[in-house]
Amino acid sequence: MRNNTKKWSERFSEPTSEIVKRYTASVNFDKRLAIVDIQGSLAHAEMLKKQKIISSVDLKAITKGLNQIKKEVITQKFQWSIELEDVHLNIEKRLIDIVGEPGKKLHTGRSRNDQVATDMRLYLRDVVDQVIEQIKNLQKSILTLAEEHIMTIMPGMTHLQVAQPISFAHHLHAYFEMLERDKSRFQDARKRINILPLGAAALAGTSYPIDRKFVAKLLKFDGVMENSIDAVSDRDFLIEFNAAASLLMTHLSRWSEELIMWSSPFFNFVEISDSFCTGSSIMPQKKNPDVPELVRGKVSRVNGHLLSLLTLMKGQPLAYNKDNQEDKEPIFDVVDTLSDTLNIFPEMIVGLKINKKEMELATLKGYATATDLADYLVKKGMPFREAHGVVAKAVKYAINHECDLSELELNTLQKFSKLVDKDVFYCLTLKGSIQSRRHVGGTAFITVKNALKKARLKLK
Ligand code: ARG
Repeated sequence: MRNNTKKWSERFSEPTSEIVKRYTASVNFDKRLAIVDIQGSLAHAEMLKKQKIISSVDLKAITKGLNQIKKEVITQKFQWSIELEDVHLNIEKRLIDIVGEPGKKLHTGRSRNDQVATDMRLYLRDVVDQVIEQIKNLQKSILTLAEEHIMTIMPGMTHLQVAQPISFAHHLHAYFEMLERDKSRFQDARKRINILPLGAAALAGTSYPIDRKFVAKLLKFDGVMENSIDAVSDRDFLIEFNAAASLLMTHLSRWSEELIMWSSPFFNFVEISDSFCTGSSIMPQKKNPDVPELVRGKVSRVNGHLLSLLTLMKGQPLAYNKDNQEDKEPIFDVVDTLSDTLNIFPEMIVGLKINKKEMELATLKGYATATDLADYLVKKGMPFREAHGVVAKAVKYAINHECDLSELELNTLQKFSKLVDKDVFYCLTLKGSIQSRRHVGGTAFITVKNALKKARLKLK
């Protein structure tokens, strides 16, 4: 290439300045698409040959060249050049260097616009498949822990105040369910990702007799995009993916927040394994829950990228605009963050030491069975609103006497309502409270056990 001409055409007579080259180039980050770019090119070339747009001799040369380039990329021998702007032009130039004339025919009937849209979809499709497997893996770890702790009692909280006793496994199962929905969001997004844009060319399609369905089949897409303008211009599939990632990270962030609290000496419900914590450089006694703190911290970047992508799209006229080059760095960072987080989380969960005794003691502290006393009175005929008032008085009395409701004498309890009888004491125990919630979705031990069984089946 002569110095003063451009990689795209002879139309330009002045060279690009260094700063503009750097500003417009994407190769430093889009080289990550090299393998899928080659995958797309191989299918495109095969179609060109089938349609007699290129010869089988051309196809053979192109295929050989692209396979060699693939090897060079994998073994990191490929020389990337910022002069060649992006992954597509780098690979095309190298192909021409290797195979000569046939290499110049590869770009027939396509544009970088439909090429890059195809690459992003191929790339993201694989990512989604991997994310789904990682979610399943995390769900398995949750179930393994939960199955051990069906009978472990903890304080269920609202407003971070002790509310009602629950099975620890029930709490864990809540996260299983959140992840189940996350998984289905990714599965659903995949349906819209896996449609082929190639063939749209720059924006209006191409005058060559291409066969888009054939390319779709070769690349295992479920169909072809119906409108060439839409095909090259929209990045909604990336936004959907990012939104699903944000929700997933949000779920893991909430759990991380709990792990941070639970491992503080004030709660002391769990101990996070040393390998997921660090010490302090000044306070020798410290063990900091770095990993969950970082999960909580990293959601912010995933959410930030979601906003970047939404903003990137909102002002763009149809069809392709160079703005879209800015979709890559956010998405790659979302993918890396998500994948690392999903890798690290299951191990952390499996390594947790659960302090059953502290959990149960904490449940005993907060009058967690007050609702059960009210429900008891209702079952004996009192309207709920009235029962609520009666129990509030009993709780006040217990607070003043520094004891639990279950520690009050029968005749003391009867002062609050004549309906109270000996059988009240069972419903005032933590177990009694838990066992009474037997409907689907409740925390009774047997119900939780069944829910976990059902959850296991969902993973099959
Ligand atoms: N690097 C570009 C991107 O990521 C590829 C498409 C460029 N197309 C163009 N006509 N300049 O979007």
